[in-house]
Amino acid sequence: MVSRNEPDTPGLGDVVDKVKEAAPLHLKWLKNPFETQLWRSIFRHKVDDTPRNRSLAVLSNVFLHLHPAKINRDSVRYTFTWGMGGITFYLFLILTLSGVLLMFYYHPDKANAFRDILTIKNDVPFGNFLRNLHRWAAHAMIITVWMHQLRVFMTGSYKPPREFNWNVGVILLLVTMLLSFTGYLLPDDQLGFWAVTVGTNMARATPLIGHEGPLGPEFGATAFNDIRFAMLGGSIVDANALLRAYIWHCVGLPLVGGTFMIVHFWRIRKDGSISGPAPVMLASEVKTAKGRR
Ligand code: HEM
Repeated sequence: MVSRNEPDTPGLGDVVDKVKEAAPLHLKWLKNPFETQLWRSIFRHKVDDTPRNRSLAVLSNVFLHLHPAKINRDSVRYTFTWGMGGITFYLFLILTLSGVLLMFYYHPDKANAFRDILTIKNDVPFGNFLRNLHRWAAHAMIITVWMHQLRVFMTGSYKPPREFNWNVGVILLLVTMLLSFTGYLLPDDQLGFWAVTVGTNMARATPLIGHEGPLGPEFGATAFNDIRFAMLGGSIVDANALLRAYIWHCVGLPLVGGTFMIVHFWRIRKDGSISGPAPVMLASEVKTAKGRR
């Protein structure tokens, strides 16, 4: 049996003494949190205003190191990039966040889907705002991703060494379009139903894997085993199509898109950062260049 006066059981007096002992140190940490072990374990370098220290601070922090320590000032000018790639990414983040919140109120089945949309609109606090935020951000993302592709094309930034990243971009464009298409069906209203009816009917004409497409029948494609059937989970737009659209929209496509975005950003760094405008020529250089012709 353990007695009350066991020597290694600290009494109240001991605890108070220890708190008193540690108080000055804790007070010092409160006044200057940058000196604590916790702070130093996260931010391992000071941000003193020297180029070396600033670079070290960026390189040794997981979030900061996503940005390069040094960049070409001209290549990040809005007049060059239009900021469209970045805005597309931010819209994707807004869509992910608002989409997760919408998932709390939405059931992907024929009995509930449309009713849930009405509930979100009319009964959920800020529900209408949330839904409109998601819808408008989706429309905006379609516009900005096309604008981004146009900018990359107009500045010739698809040329070597960036041809691989152009192809990653094409996948991202496709994923963005598919996210928009699958989201369209989810309210289970007339607009979505007919849009998906038309869209999936077009898939009948896919070469080889559509039952009305070139060489489709020759490859054994029928209305009950072709690509349209796979998209709908049946031969008509119904409960299975709604469930498939939901799973692709909320899980499959965001995962594929997110993964390729990581590859896209990593590749920008590996290709020597954003391409940047053509270097400016001095008047004297222009003369020399003309003279050589
Ligand atoms: C979800 C879609 C996309 C996101 C979030 C995204 C994001 C970005 C960002 C942030 C940049 C840095 C420069 C800038 O902002 O302009 C960039 C560059 C680039 N993107 Fe995208 N992008 C997407 C889709 C595309 C598409 C559709 C293409 C082309 C088919 C593309 C091709 C490229 C190329 C080649 C670069 C390098 C450009 C340069 O070095 O000047 N991206 N992207």
